[in-house]
Amino acid sequence: MDKKRIKVIRRQATLDDIDAIYKLDQEVWTEFPGTREMFASRIETFPEGNVVAEVNGQIVGYLCMEIVKLELDHQKPFTWTEITDNGYLKNSHKANGNYEYGLALTVSPNYQNCGIATRLFLSAWEIGVRANIIACLLGSRIPDYYKYKDKYSPEEYINLRREDGKLLDPELRLYERDGFKAVMLLPNYIQDPQSCDYGVLMKQGNPFYNRGPQFFRNFLASIISRWGHKFLGV
Ligand SMILES: CC(C)(COP(=O)(O)OP(=O)(O)OC[C@H]1O[C@@H](n2cnc3c(N)ncnc32)[C@H](O)[C@@H]1OP(=O)(O)O)[C@@H](O)C(=O)NCCC(=O)NCCS
Repeated sequence: MDKKRIKVIRRQATLDDIDAIYKLDQEVWTEFPGTREMFASRIETFPEGNVVAEVNGQIVGYLCMEIVKLELDHQKPFTWTEITDNGYLKNSHKANGNYEYGLALTVSPNYQNCGIATRLFLSAWEIGVRANIIACLLGSRIPDYYKYKDKYSPEEYINLRREDGKLLDPELRLYERDGFKAVMLLPNYIQDPQSCDYGVLMKQGNPFYNRGPQFFRNFLASIISRWGHKFLGV
């Protein structure tokens, strides 16, 4: 498959997409599957935060973001269930919050490493710049940690780098490449044998926070969404 030739369409998810999102989720999250009710609740609570990637009319990627209210300097570790209201968002999403939080990112195994996650992040930025958040946050898994757990503590592991200078863990590597930095370790974040149940809170500041009037930020958000992939090389 020629990665550059894949035509990916990104769009806001609707309630009609629930079966396709559910099917995709079942394909990827065998240990931690979502339910149709969860996806419906997310779309009803914050429709803009639910984005799908389509290839040839088939949904192959799904991103879900919410807006949360946090005091990051005093933040204690939390679990995925706590920060997402058990994946439903009903009580965790705050329209007037100060941080954007990524709670789900899923790409079909048949289309991984084609830049789809990186393209979905553009929608996250569009949402975040429009909502004028301080920073975008997400809880990363560390899916290769189980291979190193006997040799390294999770604190040591998340800083390990390959010879080429890139992070050893594939998921942390993806987020670092897209501009995120690790903020804190999240023990018992999700039930995930590969990550030994650890998550890592990742953060990327919003360079447009409180810059200019709202119409200007909305304009920037549209430019990022429309043309950002050219800058990211995907
Ligand atoms: C992690 C994931 C979303 C990446 O999606 P993608 O569209 O393949 O990502 P992109 O093509 O934009 O970027 C490729 C990078 O993603 C990372 N990546 C690829 N496959 C991965 C996998 N199975 N697990 C974790 N990270 C992976 C690597 O850093 C890769 O870069 P590399 O070439 O340096 O190795 C996708 O692999 C996936 O859905 N994995 C399973 C579910 C998951 O872990 N989701 C993250 C939510 S916490």
